[in-house]
Amino acid sequence: MTIKLSSPSYGELEIQAVTRVLQSQVTSMGYETYMFEQELKQYFGREELNILAVNSCTAALQLALQGVGIKHGDEVLVPSLTYVATFQAVSALGAVPIPCDVDDECFIDVEDAESRITHKTKAIIPVLYAGIENNINAVYELARQYNLYVIEDAAHSFGSKNTILRDSVFCFSFDPIKNLSCTSGGAIVTPDKELTDRIKDLRLLDVIGDTERRINGERSWDFDVKEQGWRYHMGNLCAAIGRAQLSRINFIGNIRCSVASRYASELNGLPHIRLLPINYETAIPHIFPIIVNEGLRNDLMQYLLSHDIGCGVQYKPNHLLTYFNRGYSLPNTEKLYSQLLSIPLHPMLSNDDVTTVIEIVKEWAINI
Ligand SMILES: Cc1ncc(COP(=O)(O)O)c(C=O)c1O
Repeated sequence: MTIKLSSPSYGELEIQAVTRVLQSQVTSMGYETYMFEQELKQYFGREELNILAVNSCTAALQLALQGVGIKHGDEVLVPSLTYVATFQAVSALGAVPIPCDVDDECFIDVEDAESRITHKTKAIIPVLYAGIENNINAVYELARQYNLYVIEDAAHSFGSKNTILRDSVFCFSFDPIKNLSCTSGGAIVTPDKELTDRIKDLRLLDVIGDTERRINGERSWDFDVKEQGWRYHMGNLCAAIGRAQLSRINFIGNIRCSVASRYASELNGLPHIRLLPINYETAIPHIFPIIVNEGLRNDLMQYLLSHDIGCGVQYKPNHLLTYFNRGYSLPNTEKLYSQLLSIPLHPMLSNDDVTTVIEIVKEWAINI
């Protein structure tokens, strides 16, 4: 049987949650969404945080950018090594995502980012790839120096104990395979109340005050709209699944951490591969990328696939995509792109599955 690269873990609680909402006949945004936001706030343990549940992290990023005032023609620094969602969120506003190089640990290369700043640059989006946030202080320092907004793409990072220490804007993903899954969803988390109030309306087509009315079970028959809004809110069904998942996050997180810790100790020091330095005591890992020596990645990929083990390349750099290509190369990103390979990491893996993955990777590394 195939060992999947990624998978959610839905159980009885999620099934009960879906049933509860369907039986209530209220699947649009309302009580469950409100409760999910409250419970997320409790989970983060910081009363001053504001949480807005939306229908994806892509939507969260776009709304956060619009909320801080990013508009047509503005430039936003983004590491090229990210899912295309980060780039699309910027370009959806008519702004221009500027691809930046990454360091050896897949984190935005701050020097490269600085060299791409122009008078049009208004924001920077550090992507917490695999939960890594090594050089994050340098990102904030750069932002302070050049007066840039920081919006963190924390799609991979829900459940990381070091996340949410910084007073900017965090965008999480609750898509099917993330650490917490609503089937599809995301959240904007920030201590900035004014920004939150603005985005709250933007996520509901900018119908002013619609969130409060929906939570009270009312409809907006007479309302005003002041700017371009989007239908990006999270409905009760996804929120109820999210609440069930949140109540199981320690269980889910512990499995992810223990799988990743086994990989980290048992694959460490093998010939031809290198591992990223992630501390599994402070972060729930979303993906487990290994870095294979140049020229060998596809060989390992084929070897794993031939043993029915799922694997993938996260991610194709955005500056190599037709739409986002700006005519320059990013050497470290391109090198990593040819070397990265993600191996299975999710809460449905059994110990035997993990042993198989480790054995097959070892077999390949020793015999190649
Ligand atoms: C780094 C990164 N950013 C953004 C996203 C977009 O998340 P969503 O699918 O919730 O829109 C993803 C999803 O895979 C991601 O990996």
